[in-house]
Amino acid sequence: MDLAKRQFDAIVIGGGGAGLRAVVELARGGLRAAVVSKLFPTRSHTVAAQGGISAALGNVTPDNWHWHMYDTVKGSDYLGDQDSIEYMCRQAPEAIFELEHMGLPFSRLDDGRIYQRPFGGMSQNYGGPQASRTCAAADRTGHAMLHTLYQQSLKAGVHFFDEYFAVDLVFNKDGTAAGCVVIEIESGEPLLIQAGAVVLATGGGGRIYRHTTNAFSNTGDGLGMILRAGLPLQDMEFWQFHPTGVANAGVLITEGSRGEGGYLLNGSGERFMERYAPNAKDLAGRDVVARAMALEILEGRGCGPKKDYVELKLDHLGEEIIEERLPSIREIAIKFANVDPVETPIPVVPTVHYMMGGIPTNRFAQVITHKNGTDEIIAGLYAVGECASVSVHGSNRLGSNSLLDLVIFGRAAGKHIIEHHGDFRVDDLADNATDMALSRIARWDSAGGESPDTIREGMLDVVQNYFGVFRTEDNMQAGLKKFAKLLPQMATTAISDHSKIYNTARIEALELENLLLVAAATVHSAAARKESRGAHARDDYPDRNDAEWIKHTLYFADDDRLDYRPVQMQPLTVESFPPKKRTY
Ligand code: FUM
Repeated sequence: MDLAKRQFDAIVIGGGGAGLRAVVELARGGLRAAVVSKLFPTRSHTVAAQGGISAALGNVTPDNWHWHMYDTVKGSDYLGDQDSIEYMCRQAPEAIFELEHMGLPFSRLDDGRIYQRPFGGMSQNYGGPQASRTCAAADRTGHAMLHTLYQQSLKAGVHFFDEYFAVDLVFNKDGTAAGCVVIEIESGEPLLIQAGAVVLATGGGGRIYRHTTNAFSNTGDGLGMILRAGLPLQDMEFWQFHPTGVANAGVLITEGSRGEGGYLLNGSGERFMERYAPNAKDLAGRDVVARAMALEILEGRGCGPKKDYVELKLDHLGEEIIEERLPSIREIAIKFANVDPVETPIPVVPTVHYMMGGIPTNRFAQVITHKNGTDEIIAGLYAVGECASVSVHGSNRLGSNSLLDLVIFGRAAGKHIIEHHGDFRVDDLADNATDMALSRIARWDSAGGESPDTIREGMLDVVQNYFGVFRTEDNMQAGLKKFAKLLPQMATTAISDHSKIYNTARIEALELENLLLVAAATVHSAAARKESRGAHARDDYPDRNDAEWIKHTLYFADDDRLDYRPVQMQPLTVESFPPKKRTY
């Protein structure tokens, strides 16, 4: 088949915050850069980020980057790489001021400086109040950021392939990155985009769970591409349950609601977080709050006729504060829970929100693999944002560190590519470089077979029910057994629509293949980790086991192979924070 081709210096796959921050840097640096996005970029999931972006500006309470670093290392339950964490926390204030100068409309204090609110896991330093470290644009920070970055990308002359779906990566003979094969969704035509630098910024894969705050588009596409290329995913056992998803709807209610003074109540009207986290209470680490809520519900202390949720109380903040700082939350509660939080608490449950694991990278965002106990860089290939595991979040992310991560490492990838641009090449494609992508597309032309939706249901059942907030060996093994049947079954499924124009059935089938790989990485990595750490809580191994398990899990798709690599405990310039008991 004669494949149409385009060529750029650098290509970014994904039009969310991470991808746009990377491409702004690339285009401003003079490279011919393009973005491939399966959505119109301002519809990317970053738009749903609510509460804010962390940086130790100290505008409201005393703060500094070193405390931010400490909180992040502690929040990660000591699985975060301390070099990357130091880099992120040190760079944070500068990155915020850059966004401000790009035009991001942050909320303001009376004196004109950026408004900041406290979020979970931010410590009380100087013996004062909990640090207010989260810079906010009301409760629409991601929306404001995405639009700002999109405008800057247009200004910098970025080329956009809007509504193009990336199918698979292509490589040079020597294994370096050379571009990707995409489908134009409108026409159904494939296209080879060649570039010596490829940045994966495809977001998370939370759609492997039934109950999630993630958009339908969060299907782990970059992760699927990486596994099919024979490269590993890292720490995929760690999935964050956000404490406050609207019960039975999954829509996010920002942690900023608790930052502004809201709190959780059980069925007896008790502020139960005082028992679980006497100091930080409702603003403990997310894993701690989510587990406490799940326990209240499991032990019969939930709210409502079925006692299957807890309540988030905000009415005491008053209508004025809610309207000024949490306007979208009020709208979401009215629309999705039929309650006005100005008068009535919101029913909430822990809901899958974020993937701490992902594509392993170093702090320059370069993708790495691991062979015979050694890390190897895949030249020209980068990953940023939620699809990457750099790893600043370790086993539990602090709220508002995600928008920061994507800005910091999006920018770092851009800078690194500009510096090394001369080393990249696209003129020596591997034989059959595009075969896998083209045969994956063609595979969905076959007729006769079960609908892929059956497999999706099977996956949602396994991941939601066997790999949830609390895990045990027996339960996970039962889940693994069920899961093992799904991949072979997927191979015999078929779709009934074989047209080319806007064939969303085919795109969804390709997305489901990615989700299944993300789910496979999750279930195998989780079953192997025999301890409790961060978001991975095992009833049968309730303690953290630092002697054996301070290490990153690597999952390779061939034979569901697992390997491990060390956590970087050594920061760049300061002393290491050694593991200690994590209390809030
Ligand atoms: O609660 C929130 O606003 C979510 C923030 C985050 O996940 O960082």
